[in-house]
Amino acid sequence: MKIEIPRDCERLGAVQIYGLQKVYELDSGGYSGQHETSHTDVIRSIPSEALYERQKNMAIVVPVKNERLKLIEGVLVGIPHPCQIIVVSNSPRGPVDRFHIEKEAITNFCKFTNKKVLVVHQKDAAIAKAIELAGYGELLGDDGLVRSGKAEGMIMGTLLARWLDNKYIGFVDSDNYFPGAVHEYVQEYAAGFEMFDTDSTFVRISWNSKPKVMENALFFAKWGRSSVHSNRTLNLLLSHFSGYETEVVKTGNAGEHALTVDLALNIEYAAGYAVETHHYVNILESWGGIMEPKEGVNPREKVTICQLESRNPHLHESKGEEHVEDMIDASLSVIYNSPLCPELLKREIAEERAMRMKLDQPEGVAPVKVYSNLSNLNLDTFLEHCEAAFDSETEALSLV
Ligand code: GDD
Ligand code: MG
Repeated sequence: MKIEIPRDCERLGAVQIYGLQKVYELDSGGYSGQHETSHTDVIRSIPSEALYERQKNMAIVVPVKNERLKLIEGVLVGIPHPCQIIVVSNSPRGPVDRFHIEKEAITNFCKFTNKKVLVVHQKDAAIAKAIELAGYGELLGDDGLVRSGKAEGMIMGTLLARWLDNKYIGFVDSDNYFPGAVHEYVQEYAAGFEMFDTDSTFVRISWNSKPKVMENALFFAKWGRSSVHSNRTLNLLLSHFSGYETEVVKTGNAGEHALTVDLALNIEYAAGYAVETHHYVNILESWGGIMEPKEGVNPREKVTICQLESRNPHLHESKGEEHVEDMIDASLSVIYNSPLCPELLKREIAEERAMRMKLDQPEGVAPVKVYSNLSNLNLDTFLEHCEAAFDSETEALSLV
């Protein structure tokens, strides 16, 4: 894969945020035939074997809730073979057991591909028990099971990726129409880790385009509505601390992202769809050098956020206008409610929100639930009970 070397970098304490990098060749060949790199190169060529090596230590978590089987299958088809796939499903178990149907389809996929996929239901009781015993009961609802939501499924996937001893974890949504796009994202995750080989690297994808039908013609939109808001507001937050206006953040709410498991186990997770924006906020809170990090947060020499621009168009299920509004609100809420957010920016967020929601006057943005740093979970206890949960394999939890 050929990727440009980033031009910009914003630094805040130990956090480095690199500017968006374009991909120039999806496959630039293997080790043989690579030319010597020199310090004047503006492009880095990453041999396909190097991507493959990274993927051997990578789990790809696919969150699922009520998606069409054909879509889920297409996503699995796109994930490169060396990766460990973990499907975390929150699809209903009744009256029709959607999860059972999904599992059958995945088992079939595994037969053809000779792969082992970890399939777990978000409401699996044994995993919930392991999480509770490990002292992270905040993730559980009144029924003692993991709460619903994409972020909650991501946390579960992260813990299972660690249980399976992976070094990297990446996420791809299960409602993607193009297996080729999924394949590209995972190649880019590996390329990001190859370019920035640290224990705390975060790779985030910005789609090149999102096709829409407008007045009977295809239009390739560049930015989704919710990313416009989260990117702009995160950039204003950064500008406040650096004193220089910046547009470096292009992946505020990137659903397609990957990070080292080490970092994933040392950050907070906002509930539902605020999760990605909160990752930026929480990384700045913990290592931006602006405020004292909360208890339990490991100091880090540097945390690298790299942003890659994919080439495939991103086409996923349309889930309606209200859903987008909720996502914007959740994303802005985590910035608004961060102790880092200056009064001026809070006012701006509230005023912009009042206009967007046609409110009579600006009002505060209610906080969303934030799960504390995952380092608060006793990992050894979790792993021990997870092992036991797998020994007594159930319908809701198995390697198929
Ligand atoms: N396990 C699990 N549990 N998965 C869920 C849940 C849940 O409760 N809710 C939704 N999902 C799955 C969906 O099936 C889908 O595969 C994925 O999570 C994303 O959900 P969507 O509802 O399709 O989200 P979106 O497309 O509007 O937003 C995506 O892109 C945004 C950036 O534009 C998400 O990835 C967002 O998190 C992201 O910010
Ligand atoms: Mg979607």
